Amino acid sequence: MSHRNSSARLGALFRSMVKASFATTGIAAVVVAGAQGAGCVMSGEDGFSGPSQDAGPRDAPPFDGEVPLAEFDTVPCDDYNYDFSQLARETNFDYVDFRTQGYPLPSDAGDAGTYPIAIRGSGGTACATADDPAKCKTDLDAVSPIGGVAISQPPGPFREGFGGIDGAFAHTKGDQVSAVRTSSEIAAFLGNIDSKTKAWVAAYVAQYNVSCSDPVVRAVPDGFEIITQEEINDCPFQYRRLLLHVGRDGAITVVRQEDLPPAGGCAGRRPHGLEPMAPGGEDDALGRYFAHTAYLEAASIAAFEVLREELASHGAPRSLRRRAARAARDEVRHARMTARMARRFGARVAAPVVARSEVRSLEEMALENEVEGCVRETFAALLATHQAEHAKDPGIAAVMRIIAQDETRHAALAWDVAEWLDERLSPDARARVRQARNVAVQQIMLEAALPVERALEAQAGYPSSHESVRLASGLLAALWEGRNEA
Ligand SMILES: [Fe+2]
Ligand SMILES: [Fe+2]
Repeated sequence: MSHRNSSARLGALFRSMVKASFATTGIAAVVVAGAQGAGCVMSGEDGFSGPSQDAGPRDAPPFDGEVPLAEFDTVPCDDYNYDFSQLARETNFDYVDFRTQGYPLPSDAGDAGTYPIAIRGSGGTACATADDPAKCKTDLDAVSPIGGVAISQPPGPFREGFGGIDGAFAHTKGDQVSAVRTSSEIAAFLGNIDSKTKAWVAAYVAQYNVSCSDPVVRAVPDGFEIITQEEINDCPFQYRRLLLHVGRDGAITVVRQEDLPPAGGCAGRRPHGLEPMAPGGEDDALGRYFAHTAYLEAASIAAFEVLREELASHGAPRSLRRRAARAARDEVRHARMTARMARRFGARVAAPVVARSEVRSLEEMALENEVEGCVRETFAALLATHQAEHAKDPGIAAVMRIIAQDETRHAALAWDVAEWLDERLSPDARARVRQARNVAVQQIMLEAALPVERALEAQAGYPSSHESVRLASGLLAALWEGRNEA
């Protein structure tokens, strides 16, 4: 099938399936003539998914309703920036902020530009009592967080020589401008943990996720308790809720823990060798969702670069190579747009780590293209179409409209690549590819049935689990089952 046709047909299919959700009932087995002509196929052995973050076994008992959530307070946050006014008062400074900055890999340090400093939260009035406020402000702007606490794991050799992110406090008093970088400096800065403010700040700088919206902190007789979440799986996204105890000496221990239901996501083209995302400091459901999406979008840049290289080295037609190159450029845009969304909802975005391998065989390519392209990215394109149509947040809807259109083109590319590969595979290899697709489809059906966080449904137009199952079943009937013959 031709590129234009397949993209247009897939788009029409997706839109009709999404519209059917307004209408009613029953699985809309919309079959678009020609759309199921080519095949997509992939491997179980490559192990793309599965539990990722090993948070390590802990002995803490579950929450079991024994934690009186109503006794916890929210922390001051203004538009997803932490408000450190109280911290500035308690530590007796005119002004306090927490800032982060990315840094390049050591090998690129010579020629890499400087990443901008991001202020994650602030309080008080900078240089309020300075005799020379202008100099004080210049000095404050120059405070670098590099060398401070590690905000993200330094990723491996991926894009733009990105090395990691460091964080530090900066504060002013009189003309004095100082940075608080190392953990011992931070301990000295906070002193005795004798307030809720110091307790949640201590947890925050220890890289625990402190929510901007949910109640998270309360005082207990021997210190403070903080409710936090950490990621335990990225496919689908799943989180573990922790109850932390923060002692007056700043020691943090986990006293209770429980795993929350999986939270959707996990669709799109993942490159071979992609490492799971390290837990970030995501604050709310939308922040987490977009931080993950941005990670996967950035990872798919590599997926399409590899696809283009492998198509070239196996002598594929120029049109396919060009479309893969264009898809890589689309993914750069998607990564930027979704990272911006993540930051808007207070989340930090990590750079993906992808271990590159040698050019692979046609069968290996076919296995990956089948699972990641024909199944996952095709389903992702349908989800994006649903989100573009249903997102209540106008900013999210606008981003999803662009992504839906591009992803539909990527799905069509996957089907066309599958067709090209299919003709070059032995009957046995073709059967293995089909088998891999069936496994991937089963996985998608299971993921679709998982519960979805409410904010994703309401604001981001993400389908409910019921709706997701309907959509996945529709694709099964319209596309995925189509090639089981042969
Ligand atoms: Fe994308
Ligand atoms: Fe894509």
